[in-house]
Amino acid sequence: MTSSSVPKTALVTGGSRGIGLAIARALVREGVRIALVARGAAELEARAKELGNHTLAIAADLSVSSEVDRLVHELGGAFGRAPDLLINNAGIFDPKPLHVLTGEELERMMKINLIAPFLVLRALLPEWREQRRGHVITIGSIADRTIFPGNAAYSASKFGARAMHEVLRVETKGTGVRTTLVSPSSTDTPIWDPVLQHGDSRFPPRSAMLGADAVADAAVWAATRPASVNIDELRMSAS
Ligand SMILES: NC(=O)c1ccc[n+]([C@@H]2O[C@H](COP(=O)([O-])OP(=O)(O)OC[C@H]3O[C@@H](n4cnc5c(N)ncnc54)[C@H](OP(=O)(O)O)[C@@H]3O)[C@@H](O)[C@H]2O)c1
Repeated sequence: MTSSSVPKTALVTGGSRGIGLAIARALVREGVRIALVARGAAELEARAKELGNHTLAIAADLSVSSEVDRLVHELGGAFGRAPDLLINNAGIFDPKPLHVLTGEELERMMKINLIAPFLVLRALLPEWREQRRGHVITIGSIADRTIFPGNAAYSASKFGARAMHEVLRVETKGTGVRTTLVSPSSTDTPIWDPVLQHGDSRFPPRSAMLGADAVADAAVWAATRPASVNIDELRMSAS
């Protein structure tokens, strides 16, 4: 078996709950110093305090590019250099058929699920390339390859994120920068609260969904492979 290699620092976007929080917890267990970002400052600070290990909480709305700049600046000040690992996880889900979806809703989905992960990654990539290190793990979805009715905006954003992962993989070949896509099916997190409260029967019950810890296991496994191993894609669903 190859020996694992643990990153020293990580930025987890959307780390205040759900999959991001599960990944943050698993990384802290591995001894990684992490920074969490989300909009809700109170929730974020409470989770950072619980996690310990000098976890940083940086409240920012990643759909606003100046907020991404501020995040990256604060992160550089705290860590002294770009984090070893970026978990591009923050995302939204708001299923709607095309005939009622508005342009503003599509734009918001693209801003948070596609453009924000690009902007955060873009800010770290030059330093990573120069220093021949760095790993981005994108949290995709089964909807990054498969379409479902009512899912046009979400699928467009996730297909786009997968495409960006695939391009980056080719562009960074041999540079020391790694890129991984983790694509879960429905996972029991608060993202489902507004969707399931209307009893939408298109979706599985929470009891049939993946647990956030299972997604975190996959992400942390990929993050802790030796630097010579670049995991491409992990797709997962409940058995
Ligand atoms: N749950 C699933 O079934 C499932 C399945 C496949 C893929 N995924 C993907 O997994 C990722 C995490 O989903 P989840 O289920 O864990 O969702 P969640 O429980 O709703 O958590 C989303 C996180 O993202 C943050 N966030 C949302 N908008 C943001 C913004 N504009 N700026 C900064 N942070 C923002 C939220 O905090 P604030 O609201 O405070 O900002 C929260 O920390 C998403 O990319 C999602 O598409 C989820």
